[in-house]
Amino acid sequence: LVRVQATVPQTIRLQSRVAPVQAASRRRALNPITAPLGDWFIGTDLQWFGNITVGTPPQTLTVVFDTGSSDLEIVSTLCGAPCDTQVKFDSSNSSTFVDGGKNASITFKTGAGVDPVIGANYHYDLRQATDTLGIGGLSVPGITIFLITNQTAKLAIDLFSGIQGLDASATGFLGGLISQGLPSLFSFFLTPEAVGNAELTLGGIDPTKFKVNGKTTPLLNATRNVILDSGTSNILFPTDTTNAMYALISPDIVPYAPEPGAYGIACDKISTLPAVIDITFTAQDGSPFNLTIPSSELNVGPFTDSPDICQTLINAFDGLRVVQCLTYSLLVS
Ligand SMILES: *[C@@H]1O[C@H](CO)[C@@H](O)[C@H](O)[C@H]1NC(C)=O
Ligand SMILES: *[C@@H]1O[C@H](CO)[C@@H](O)[C@H](O)[C@H]1NC(C)=O
Ligand SMILES: *[C@@H]1O[C@H](CO)[C@@H](O)[C@H](O)[C@H]1NC(C)=O
Ligand SMILES: *[C@@H]1O[C@H](CO)[C@@H](O)[C@H](O)[C@H]1NC(C)=O
Ligand SMILES: *[C@@H]1O[C@H](CO)[C@@H](O)[C@H](O)[C@H]1NC(C)=O
Ligand SMILES: *[C@@H]1O[C@H](CO)[C@@H](O)[C@H](O)[C@H]1NC(C)=O
Repeated sequence: LVRVQATVPQTIRLQSRVAPVQAASRRRALNPITAPLGDWFIGTDLQWFGNITVGTPPQTLTVVFDTGSSDLEIVSTLCGAPCDTQVKFDSSNSSTFVDGGKNASITFKTGAGVDPVIGANYHYDLRQATDTLGIGGLSVPGITIFLITNQTAKLAIDLFSGIQGLDASATGFLGGLISQGLPSLFSFFLTPEAVGNAELTLGGIDPTKFKVNGKTTPLLNATRNVILDSGTSNILFPTDTTNAMYALISPDIVPYAPEPGAYGIACDKISTLPAVIDITFTAQDGSPFNLTIPSSELNVGPFTDSPDICQTLINAFDGLRVVQCLTYSLLVS
């Protein structure tokens, strides 16, 4: 998910990442841990979620691990009816819970399959606090968390209870694990629902999980900043980049006028697309990695209002304020 610039000042504060000086000498290596992930599937694979624990004794909560944000927000018993379909964290039952005395709010821009979200319909009201977080047998005390006290209806359909940010500034939970000696990297094994067994590995990469007709244009083969966002199920690029990519894939993919930013193709033409579309990201050091999209996955499903037109995965969006980024150029084939 990507935080939308709010029209009012935001009160969310990030905890400092700076570790006490003596922490380095006490540091001992922690082994990587792997957590199983579930798949939120509605016609297509939307998001992958897994379990963390919050509080003492630990309460298990399911969260989407989101490389597009940095904090933890969880549904809590401070939220009434708008959160009743989700598992709630009960802070009154945690001996390590400390209320932060501050309210906050956050609005996300995200994608969850067809009919992408534009506007403020993904919004949380929050209460700042600290508590102990755990995952896979590791735990970190005193982490800043945000309890969800109200939410818009669009978020109540989530199968999970919140969002655990993992982006480059993820100071809280991830920063806490790193300062305990966990190597500062993580990897996702994100599989289609039919394959299953998706995983998040914190502190390492599972080398058993991956194996490794190029066309580009000057516009695509240019250095750009990207967020690799596990919390958003559409890919967002600026309009000119999106048009250039689709022009290399198929002339039948065109903007879908009723939803600015969305693109579609007649569903009966999906079978005419290349079987696989490779988007090659080339890092500044020259190392490439391929985002390989089978054409069946490029199709996100029919638009509700136009069932003959299938939405395609890449959306145009020009207002993104990139906060943390990785720098890549693009090659499409
Ligand atoms: C999360 O934990 C619950 C038990 O509390 C379990 O039923 C569920 O399978 C777990 N989810 C994942 C993705 O591991
Ligand atoms: C509250 O904590 C107690 C243990 O201290 C546990 O037995 C109980 O199930 C917990 N209740 C909830 C709602 O988490
Ligand atoms: C914080 O939000 C709660 C509702 O969750 C409200 O009752 C309270 O007045 C708010 N406090 C401040 C200082 O705005
Ligand atoms: C919760 O948010 C909804 C808008 O999604 C709003 O109508 C409602 O008044 C809010 N409830 C509280 C208690 O703030
Ligand atoms: C990436 O995709 C391109 C184009 O299909 C292909 O030539 C190249 O071998 C792929 N690279 C890797 C590392 O898979
Ligand atoms: C992309 O641009 C770089 C120079 O920035 C050039 O060296 C490279 O050959 C170009 N790649 C392709 C496939 O055109």
